[in-house]
Amino acid sequence: MIKNICCIGAGYVGGPTMAVIALKSPHIKVTVVDLNQERIDAWNGEDFEKLPIYEPGLAEVVEKCRGRNLFFSTDVDKAIDEADAIFISVNTPTKTYGVGKGMAADLKYIELCARQIARVATSDKIVIEKSTLPVRTAEAIVNILKNTGNGVDFQILSNPEFLAEGTAVADLMNPDRVLIGGEQTENGKKAAQQLVDVYKNWVPEANILTTNVWSSELSKLTANAFLAQRVSSINAMSELCEVTGADVGEVAKAIGTDSRIGPKFLKASVGFGGSCFQKDILNLVYIAKSYGLDEVADYWEQVIILNDHQKRRFASNIVKTLFNTVSGKEIAILGWAFKKDTNDTRESAAIYVADELLNERASLKVYDPKVNKERVFADLNYLESRSKEENTELVNIIGDPYEACKGAHAIAVLTEWDEFKSFDWRMIYEGMKKPAFIFDGRALLDLEELSKIGFVTYSIGKGN
Ligand code: NAD
Ligand code: UDX
Repeated sequence: MIKNICCIGAGYVGGPTMAVIALKSPHIKVTVVDLNQERIDAWNGEDFEKLPIYEPGLAEVVEKCRGRNLFFSTDVDKAIDEADAIFISVNTPTKTYGVGKGMAADLKYIELCARQIARVATSDKIVIEKSTLPVRTAEAIVNILKNTGNGVDFQILSNPEFLAEGTAVADLMNPDRVLIGGEQTENGKKAAQQLVDVYKNWVPEANILTTNVWSSELSKLTANAFLAQRVSSINAMSELCEVTGADVGEVAKAIGTDSRIGPKFLKASVGFGGSCFQKDILNLVYIAKSYGLDEVADYWEQVIILNDHQKRRFASNIVKTLFNTVSGKEIAILGWAFKKDTNDTRESAAIYVADELLNERASLKVYDPKVNKERVFADLNYLESRSKEENTELVNIIGDPYEACKGAHAIAVLTEWDEFKSFDWRMIYEGMKKPAFIFDGRALLDLEELSKIGFVTYSIGKGN
């Protein structure tokens, strides 16, 4: 029976996942460890409103469990040694160097974890892949653990995480399913059952699926590819709607009522972002190519190509509409996070739209309710499209949305934050240069209302 859990990686997955396990399993001690001292300090901070990750409901869960059976620490060795089960929840970004650059998943952090576990462990452990990994990664982990270990027994399980940011706590409390892949040996099945027993504390057994390791690893990549594909499919239709006079919202509703299609993930947008979709599809494409499956690779790559096109065409449309030049014009950017209810900006469409506008020498005033100034500049500077000084000169981060829009020629809505819907748009309009343009990249706002006020409107996927 698992009584002591260690989770390596206190990020967007490790933090919330372990907090919910601790909440639902008071008899299990859960220690989340990370190399990043600042992150751990923030998890241990006095002010629960300032945890390193913003997720609705997370602060309450952490407040209930921290110090009871949930602990955050940088002492990785100690937590590994004490644990019966170790979750590996470290980042697996796209490789930025060497073979597979720009496509394959970089597994260096995973390998480091495996080596550390092998070095430190003095008793039998269940090692659980929580990170999203290429199919057959468990093989490499087994090799490291079995060849450099201290003669202890390691069972490797795959337990991919399906939570979405912004709804992480609700997703974890009530998951559609939990997936556990294990070796089809007697010991492998016993280990999988022990993990099933942890989730059974709050998830109905029928929703806990067990498979072989490779199916579990590949299911995670497949789920993300299918979800992203739906977004690219509706986004492809959004462009067609705009030129034909159709309304993508109406089309989505009409097709989503077909029970074979379903209503979810049919919201047209300025493009999907987040740390997972692009990374996981590129990884899938790389794997398919490495097996010589070029048609399979090309099929999935198109999802990314369309997404890049969507972000670019949104930015070009702004430039075109503002009389083909935005140089020296002020554009208010509403929303920087990749979706609402998160402070995460990884691969956010806002970064790429802003970059295109800055290439045209626009001045940007950015407002996001949860993203801070340092993050916005870090995102822009990372692209290396222009010097840090130029970014500082052209971009202002403003804590008040009304101030951000004051004096602007146009507004671009890039994240679907609920609060944007209840702004006093008349007041905003009055403070702007005329004609005042609004480009709604999330089909969020009431265009009729905005037009009545006087705005010149554009909404993704809405033809005239
Ligand atoms: P993250 O970058 O937020 O967190 C990863 C953490 O691991 C970092 O804090 C880093 O310092 C730490 N770390 C890296 N190497 C370490 C080591 N050797 N020892 C200790 N700590 C180490 O990443 P994330 O968003 O939590 O994603 C983690 C994994 O989960 C990825 O594989 C991702 O694809 C997958 N995933 C993410 C989501 C999501 O919504 N973010 C959802 C499902 C799956
Ligand atoms: C995704 C998967 O949903 C989740 O299961 C996996 O574990 C991690 O990756 P996440 O990236 O956190 O989760 O958020 P998600 O809700 O999937 O949104 C991803 C992106 O797609 C966001 O930028 C979102 O705005 C966009 N999106 C989503 C759309 O543009 N339209 C939609 O209909 C749905």
